[in-house]
Amino acid sequence: MAYFKYKGILFAHPIYSEETLSYVDNEFQLFDDDIVNVAYPKSGTHWMSEVLGLIRSHGDPSWVQNVPIWERTPWIDIPEGLKIALKYPPPRLLSTHLPFQLFPKSFLHSKAKVVYTMRNPRDAMVSGYHFFGAFKDLKDYGTMDVFMEWFLSGEVLFGSWFDHVKGWMEMKDRANIFFITYEELQQDLRGSVQRICRFLGKELNSQQLEAVVENASFHKMKDNKMSNFSLTPDDLFDHTKGKLMRKGISGDWKNHLTVAQSEHFDRAYRENMRGVNMTFPWD
Ligand code: A3P
Repeated sequence: MAYFKYKGILFAHPIYSEETLSYVDNEFQLFDDDIVNVAYPKSGTHWMSEVLGLIRSHGDPSWVQNVPIWERTPWIDIPEGLKIALKYPPPRLLSTHLPFQLFPKSFLHSKAKVVYTMRNPRDAMVSGYHFFGAFKDLKDYGTMDVFMEWFLSGEVLFGSWFDHVKGWMEMKDRANIFFITYEELQQDLRGSVQRICRFLGKELNSQQLEAVVENASFHKMKDNKMSNFSLTPDDLFDHTKGKLMRKGISGDWKNHLTVAQSEHFDRAYRENMRGVNMTFPWD
């Protein structure tokens, strides 16, 4: 796989292409009834896709169990996903890992709704370390020490976690962006789904709400081949090496970082997040 940078952010061929990124950045038109699922990689993007899909179908699991996640909620940052998005009958559900500066400019003049999910960057890093290593053509990150250096310096796909979160946070006063964390989903999925529904202007009765919560659980998703990444071809992803539905918990970083690594991470976190007036569940 050949790495390249688009406006300073790292991507890799053939999954990503400059042409698609440039089109999405400058020309892709968001519609007022679009719902876009945005997250830094390994922050619960697939989980949110499942939640949004289930909300759309009022908790009925047949859609999420019969249609692959990349057709239900296509990735606009990938050439194949963009093609699906362009043919998607509205109202569309879309997904992306793009940092705000590469997100469609048309967003600034639209009422499209964005759900932005954040996760403790330590857990996102550990999740990424296990996941990206299974892509056949991505470079081998070797040890956690090496991967952590790249993660903290933003030399990973979609760039720096810090810049991603800070970039999107700058938009926090816009009424059409909803911020939520992986940790909140975990602590209270039912309450989180209710808040998401309120933001989307969608009403579910209590039975439908329960059905969303049940079908978006880790175990249901792990068994749902339309959502668990198992349909990804073997020549792209070594399924014996990595799993999308790996552990699904918060705080797994404690099992993978040494005390020295964790202190190093904390220092970088403090430095990069200085001046950010927000308290996160992991602070
Ligand atoms: P872990 O590797 O820590 O297990 P993304 O979709 O952005 O790539 O994020 C993947 C992470 O979200 C993985 O974390 C995965 O297990 C977790 N995840 C996916 N679906 C989940 C669910 N229903 N409940 C809890 N965690 C989930």
